[in-house]
Amino acid sequence: MNDTMDFDERASRRAEAIYQTRDMVEARRRTIEALRLTPGARVLDVGSGPGLFADEMAQVVGPAGCVRGVDISEAMVGIARARCADTPWVDFQIADAVSLPFEDESFDACVSVQTLEFVADVDAALREFHRALKPGGRLAVSDADWGSTTWRCKDAALCDRVMAGWLEGFAHQRLPLTLKRRIEAAGFVDASAHAIPVLDTVYGPERFSFHFIRMFQGVLPERTALAQEEVDAWADDLREQGEAGAYFFAHYRYLFVAEKPL
Ligand SMILES: C[S@@+](CC[C@H](N)C(=O)[O-])C[C@H]1O[C@@H](n2cnc3c(N)ncnc32)[C@H](O)[C@@H]1O
Repeated sequence: MNDTMDFDERASRRAEAIYQTRDMVEARRRTIEALRLTPGARVLDVGSGPGLFADEMAQVVGPAGCVRGVDISEAMVGIARARCADTPWVDFQIADAVSLPFEDESFDACVSVQTLEFVADVDAALREFHRALKPGGRLAVSDADWGSTTWRCKDAALCDRVMAGWLEGFAHQRLPLTLKRRIEAAGFVDASAHAIPVLDTVYGPERFSFHFIRMFQGVLPERTALAQEEVDAWADDLREQGEAGAYFFAHYRYLFVAEKPL
């Protein structure tokens, strides 16, 4: 285990709100589409979080298939289980991405979204995804390039300190820059990369970055040297920019799709 962000109940609920915004709904649609799921398929979701992916994939694979989610956070597994309580072909368990509790060649597809950036040994996790997939199985991995994040702030020095505090919570801050090569090194073929930009010029609860601001306010004073007043001052600046019609947030995520050779 490394000292990455702890998805306790509060952080997990904030993450759940982020993943229900318009941009994340669309990113999920693109990612699930890339898996080419069919009814009856067996799917593995590593870092299943609040279960939004699992819930949507379960509708595609139907009761003849199954979705198995694993996550290291007890709070996340609890939220995901509650979300999918009426879908008996979905199941969640607590497990680490580098040591999956499944037999070799158990799944037709594997998805892992915004999880590997928290995993110290990404290459070991990718080898696990490869082991758990059947020959011909499809992989979809998506992570954020935190280095591409831009927030227009009045106090640039404070903004830099807040962003640096946020980056402390990750094992990898710019993982997408090396992911394609890592996926190929794990034994996958036909790897392709796709950009998922997120751009907010409006400040409000329907926007991705709005919920990130609240996540920062909750998490950073607890786990970094930043004081609550500093993070709140940064958040107030962004809110005021929103009220003045001058808000700007931009950020890139990347989706990598590949196959285990037949
Ligand atoms: C940002 S959330 C993404 C959740 C989900 N994939 C989604 O996109 O909706 C990251 C998740 O990865 C989980 N996680 C972090 N490190 C992990 C590890 N080593 N093994 C399994 N899950 C892990 C966290 O607990 C958290 O639920």
